[in-house]
Amino acid sequence: MTSVRPIAKAFDAEKARADFPILKRQVHGKPLVFLDSAASAQKPQVVIDALANCLGNEYANIHRGVYYLSALSTKNFEAAREKVQRFINAKESREIIFTRGATEAINLVAQSWGGANLKPGDEVLVSGLEHHSNIVPWQLIAGRMGAKVVAAPIDDKGDLILDEFFERLSSRTRIVAIAHVSNALGTILPLQAIIEAAHRRGIPVLVDGCQGIVHRDVDVKALDCDFSAFSGHKLYGPTGIGVLYGKATLLSAMPPYQGGGEMIETVSFEGTTYAGIPHRFEAGTPAIAEAIALGTAIDYVSGFDRAAILAHEEMLMEYTLDALRSRNDVTLVGMPKKRASIVSFTMNDIHPHDVGTILDQTGVAVRVGHHCAQPLMDRFGIPGTIRASFGLYNTRADVDALIAGLAQVREIFG
Ligand code: ALA
Repeated sequence: MTSVRPIAKAFDAEKARADFPILKRQVHGKPLVFLDSAASAQKPQVVIDALANCLGNEYANIHRGVYYLSALSTKNFEAAREKVQRFINAKESREIIFTRGATEAINLVAQSWGGANLKPGDEVLVSGLEHHSNIVPWQLIAGRMGAKVVAAPIDDKGDLILDEFFERLSSRTRIVAIAHVSNALGTILPLQAIIEAAHRRGIPVLVDGCQGIVHRDVDVKALDCDFSAFSGHKLYGPTGIGVLYGKATLLSAMPPYQGGGEMIETVSFEGTTYAGIPHRFEAGTPAIAEAIALGTAIDYVSGFDRAAILAHEEMLMEYTLDALRSRNDVTLVGMPKKRASIVSFTMNDIHPHDVGTILDQTGVAVRVGHHCAQPLMDRFGIPGTIRASFGLYNTRADVDALIAGLAQVREIFG
């Protein structure tokens, strides 16, 4: 279940901004206004320090050495796994697999679980608003197994049409792979209803939790999802580290994804046996410093009242929507029932890339284009959007700068 705790106190975004050194810099001689956290969030000093401390003071390879530094590094790495476990309320820490990112986590499930379970004629059910990383891995494995990927449609507001989704759940459906939050529109999907409906038919569900984990409390036990994937870099952590959560029963039954060191029990030319989870899925030297610093990012985020952050982000979202609506040359793309901190729009006659380039000159960083969600853009009949997305460090002043930047775009284009 995804839940939001009651609001305890106002969140002081100005104070939090001071934790992020990059926000003090200028671009093109203008103060940086960073509105692209859905692509990757900026990093607080504590995360930068955690990386430097690991690499500068406490670094050695893990799970291998009998010596002091290796033991220390192993302890820190495994402590990070436990932080992730607690953060998402997984039952056991072995249900947390460290991956290179969410993309690798989804590919892992597609290749390993899909390779073992998909049969000709089977279907993988996704939604029409998925990121390419929750479409293409399924197309790859479906193509190999003679299965196919089926997408449930999205309505004009950018919401999943739930009835159509339920209609597509059939005896052919072998797995559901669905986003918690759309990276392109901010739509929050009704995960509970989706998971319950899938489970009534005995179908497992993978959640692409990349955006959801940043803006909502996620409790995988209450939600009862079977797999969940997210990346560290959107959660104020480093790049190169992500998480696959999977129920222990499912992960334990899955064959290895990659072969190499660390994932074995014994190796011989006659035959190799594999380690248990999580190590079976962590072949080779992992991103040690990055995993540890992800743990620090989780500590950082958990140090705030998350409900208060959410209230701040929702206030900012409303402020942005009102400001965008006040311009008669802006069209909002998607008005979902529930939305996280992402808004997409077009500026009628002006190409999103032109808008993004001019905004950049004013110091405002937004993402423009299809946002790795081409089927969703096709659904709306547009090549792309301008997307503003918020982190806990954004303020109304950032939104004001965006709106002032749009006025400059209009001035240039007439
Ligand atoms: N998935 C990231 C985004 O939406 C990169 O921008």
